[in-house]
Amino acid sequence: MPRRIAPGQKLVLASHNPGKLREIEALLRPHGVDVVSAGALGLPEPEETAPDFAGNARIKALAAATASGLPALSDDSGFCVAALGGEPGVFSARWAGPNKDFNAAMAAVNEKLGGTEDRRAWFVAALCLAWPDGHTETFLGRVDGSAIWPPRGGKGFGYDPMFVPSLGQQTFGELDPEVKHAVSHRARAFAQVLASCFGGAAPTFASWPGSSGPPFAARAGIGGPDKPGHDVEAGP
Ligand code: IMP
Repeated sequence: MPRRIAPGQKLVLASHNPGKLREIEALLRPHGVDVVSAGALGLPEPEETAPDFAGNARIKALAAATASGLPALSDDSGFCVAALGGEPGVFSARWAGPNKDFNAAMAAVNEKLGGTEDRRAWFVAALCLAWPDGHTETFLGRVDGSAIWPPRGGKGFGYDPMFVPSLGQQTFGELDPEVKHAVSHRARAFAQVLASCFGGAAPTFASWPGSSGPPFAARAGIGGPDKPGHDVEAGP
């Protein structure tokens, strides 16, 4: 039985990334949770030393939960390109360098791809809910599509302008935030968080026909270890 977040519960958002905070706050808004960011509490950013998204999400959520004494929700996510063996992957933020220059990061992806015809790409989000006693619930969401060049659109963040989801024609940078929030990797992971830990409705993604139904795993498509799903670890 997944552990629940009660209505009115204070929840720490264990992220210092303004783009992610904006999206997660928008996703949480309808669910009556009192959110506070790790930055607002002055919590430090832990080092992300795990080799995968789920491991890094657990590190961030556990660090915030134990430091604050409150349940914490983290997001570890990234952009993966098939022809680059899944890179930039867990290093998505690092590819942008200390100045967080995502135009440079996107240009580096494009340059590494060169003339390759295989443009398959996907975003992964691992969301982890951690409690101060060390219990965690981790959820993985994924959205498949292609890496395009040149980038288009100024509405999202990070690698959004160079990603066109399958079944769509606009990049994540061109889509209105409400549309991205309905279909993104983060929304898919978040729907599982809601269903398991907030007592929400099961995810259906009715707004995107090709992605309705049970089947994150069925839609996982091309390889990589980031199979959508849910993982629970008890505290010590
Ligand atoms: P981290 O999870 O803080 O290590 O950083 C993940 C990085 O992946 C972000 O800085 C973005 O560059 C990229 N990323 C994650 N989610 C998205 C998204 O929804 N759109 C665009 N880029 C994303």
